[in-house]
Formats: sequence, structure tokens, C-alpha cells
Amino acid sequence: MKKILIIGSIHNHGIDLLKGNKNFEFEVVDNTDAEFLKDKIKDCDGISIRTSKLSKEIIDSAKNLKVISRHGVGYDNIDLKATKQNNITLAITATANAQAVAEHVLFMLFSIAKRNNMYNELIAGFGRIGKCLLKKCKGLEMNIFVYDPFVSEEEIKKVGGTKIKDLNESLNKMDAISIHMPLNENTKHLINYEMIKKMKKNCILINAARGGIINEEDLNKALNEDLIFGAGLDVFEKEPPSLDNPLLKNEKAFLSPHSAVFTEECLSRMGIETVQNIIDFFDNKLEKSKIVKIS
Ligand SMILES: NC(=O)c1ccc[n+]([C@@H]2O[C@H](COP(=O)([O-])OP(=O)(O)OC[C@H]3O[C@@H](n4cnc5c(N)ncnc54)[C@H](O)[C@@H]3O)[C@@H](O)[C@H]2O)c1
Repeated sequence: MKKILIIGSIHNHGIDLLKGNKNFEFEVVDNTDAEFLKDKIKDCDGISIRTSKLSKEIIDSAKNLKVISRHGVGYDNIDLKATKQNNITLAITATANAQAVAEHVLFMLFSIAKRNNMYNELIAGFGRIGKCLLKKCKGLEMNIFVYDPFVSEEEIKKVGGTKIKDLNESLNKMDAISIHMPLNENTKHLINYEMIKKMKKNCILINAARGGIINEEDLNKALNEDLIFGAGLDVFEKEPPSLDNPLLKNEKAFLSPHSAVFTEECLSRMGIETVQNIIDFFDNKLEKSKIVKIS
């Protein structure tokens, strides 16, 4: 019998897949303290984890661990090197959350944009969420520009977008910019004061990807100087954000607490997929598209 640890509560629809399944025993824990997890994870074969940190120390202590299933798609909270070194498979809920995040971006955009134009929209990061957002923005008759060095001009053109090769040069044309790339060493603080300075005064900047891609101090300064119209942030460098984070009090910032996926349907899909990925892994049926390639 495989031992599964669910770190952070998930939707009951996911738990139901494990209940009564004679191949698995499982436990759900809400404590994400490193020392607690190091002990809990010791003899686990698989885990599901939300956004809490999974350090090398915790991963190294899990001698039986074969699969880490992220309840979500970003994996900047997981030590990838340790995952690879320990020959552990990392899975994501690849089909569960793009719709809800794209909807949340539009919700933020509309909430901020009452007195604004929304002709040209830049989508930075053209994966599952970026593509889903493009379809929705097309319905609003926006001109969509896409910045993603890893997606071809042809692919972007096929769905009605225009590829942007140089992010800096395009900024002064955009009424809205929405970030949908992963947080990693290349994207950390990609959006800084100098970049925001190049944006249009009426531009709305949205980040529903990861805190840390936009430099928060720079953004706060730029908003105070009226360099852009407003910002919508679902994610923060530190979560939950410290109470003294000035963005919390900035009237030009529209904030939500990393809640873009918090629809009943989306949480149900994520709960099911994070558990199903573990079950599929042990049945040798886990789809390649759900496995993170760690270089
Ligand atoms: N707010 C939330 O609750 C929430 C929910 C889901 C995902 N997310 C975040 O959104 C991100 C995107 O999710 P996804 O499912 O679309 O991921 P994805 O992997 O399908 O797409 C990411 C895209 O970013 C592109 N990219 C990588 N580096 C880039 C760079 N330097 N510049 C521009 N583009 C770059 C990739 O080529 C890829 O097309 C995730 O990494 C995650 O951190 C947040």
C-alpha cells in the first residue's frame, strides 16, 4: 500500500478518489512548517502540495518519495535540483486552471479600466493561460500582442495574435499588459521601474502569474508617480504580503490574495487532477503533458 501525504487541504472531490482505494493510505496536513514536513514525509511514496515551500532538505528526507504532484501549475516553490537528484517525478494539474486565471485577469482589467481604453493588450508568456486569455480578449475586439521567446510567430499568428520580439520596444503601445510566464532566475524582477517608465500613462499592468516577476517596490513608486493607470495583482513576492507592503494601501493597485483559481469548479478540477496524477503515476499511466521536464 502506497503512502500519500496531501500537504494543504484540497477539494473533497480529490479526497474521494483516495477514500476506500485499497492501493493507498493517505493523510491530509495543513501544517507546512519545514521541520514538521521533514518528519511527515519520511516514509511517503507520493505527495500533493499547494504553494508551500518544498526545500532540498525536506525532499532529501523523503527516502521513498517517487512523485510530487503540484496542486497547480507553477513549481517555483519546489527545489527542482533535489527533485531530479532523487529521481522524483514532478506532475502539475495542467488541465485544471487556465480558464479561471484568464477570467480573473479580465475581472481585474474591467475593475480597473472603467475610465480607460482597452485596444492593445500584451500577453507576456503564451502558455496555457496566455492562450486562453487571448481567446477571451479576441471576443472583446482587442488587438493582441504576445511576448514569448519560446513560441513561434506562426503559432501566434494562427490564433490571431502578433508576436513581439523585443518587450522593451513594444511597451509604449499597450493599454494593458498581462504577465503569464513562470517565475525563475530569468524572469525575477523582469518588470522594473525603467520598464514601467516606458509604458503608456493609461496602461494597466496585471500579474496573476507569480510575485517577484514585477519588482514591487518599483511598481509602487511608478503608481505613485502616475507612470501607469493602475495595476492588478493576484500574487506577491511574499505571501501573504506583509502588512507594511505599501501596495496594500496604494489606491491604484487592485489586489486579490492569490485567489485567481478560487472558483468551486476550478478547485474541484485541481483537487481531482492532483490526486489522479499520483494514482496514474503508480499505474504507469501519467500523461507526459503533465510531467515537468527538469533540465
Ligand atoms: N494566480 C494563480 O493562482 C495562478 C494559477 C495558475 C498559474 N499561475 C502562474 O501562471 C504561470 C503560467 O501558467 P501556465 O499554465 O500558462 O504555464 P505554461 O507553462 O503553460 O506557460 C508559460 C509560458 O511562459 C513562457 N515563458 C517562459 N519564460 C519566459 C520569458 N522569460 N518571457 C516570456 N515568456 C516566457 C513559456 O514559453 C510558456 O509558453 C505559472 O508559471 C504560474 O506561476 C498562477
